[in-house]
Amino acid sequence: MKKKRLQTILSFLSPEDKLIDVGTDHAYIPIEAAKMGITKILATDIHEHALESAKENISKSHYPFIETKLCDGLEGIDTKDYNTLVLAGMGTSTIQHILKKEKLESIQKIILQSNHDLENLRRFMNELGYTLKDEVAVEEGGHFYLCMCYVSGCEVLTKKEILFGKKQKKNAFYYQYLIKKYESMMESVPKEKQKLLKYYIETLKTYIL
Ligand SMILES: C[S@@+](CC[C@H](N)C(=O)[O-])C[C@H]1O[C@@H](n2cnc3c(N)ncnc32)[C@H](O)[C@@H]1O
Repeated sequence: MKKKRLQTILSFLSPEDKLIDVGTDHAYIPIEAAKMGITKILATDIHEHALESAKENISKSHYPFIETKLCDGLEGIDTKDYNTLVLAGMGTSTIQHILKKEKLESIQKIILQSNHDLENLRRFMNELGYTLKDEVAVEEGGHFYLCMCYVSGCEVLTKKEILFGKKQKKNAFYYQYLIKKYESMMESVPKEKQKLLKYYIETLKTYIL
């Protein structure tokens, strides 16, 4: 498990949370959450081999109360018993497939970490009625991860916030990385796309002022 990314996800949790970790894989997040004092935890995965690994790690841990379930997303789960979700290490389209409004009535907090298509993810969460409380960028092993914490409640995000999140000093290194990335793409893309990249770069420069 990548340490900084895991620590950042865990930093959004509180001992009173009632947690479902969707797509748990090795159950690292539930086990660490139990160490923090969370006592109601369900670890789920769609793949049998992943859930077997989760079960094995849970049985070896000091937290046998962590429950497990083999399922697609939240299917077959009575979410009323929980108030917090973690969906980490998944693509935006999978997250969108899993977060169905009728399953979220009791869910106060959703922690997300997707590697792709963050613009669509922010728009989706905004339309779902969640407020972007915090976003923390993490660099680990040469990769950049953005960990998002949403809480229930509506807000209106600007076009720029949908694109790059809320401006935060602590994420300046991440904005710099994006600027460099877009600059390096400039030569190899068609004119139309260049215009868009320029807009991204100019916007990001305002983020690090
Ligand atoms: C890259 S792993 C991430 C594991 C862990 N959440 C983390 O952040 O380290 C993604 C996991 O999500 C699971 N997954 C993918 N689609 C899913 C779905 N629709 N429902 C439940 N789990 C899913 C995969 O089987 C895999 O174990």
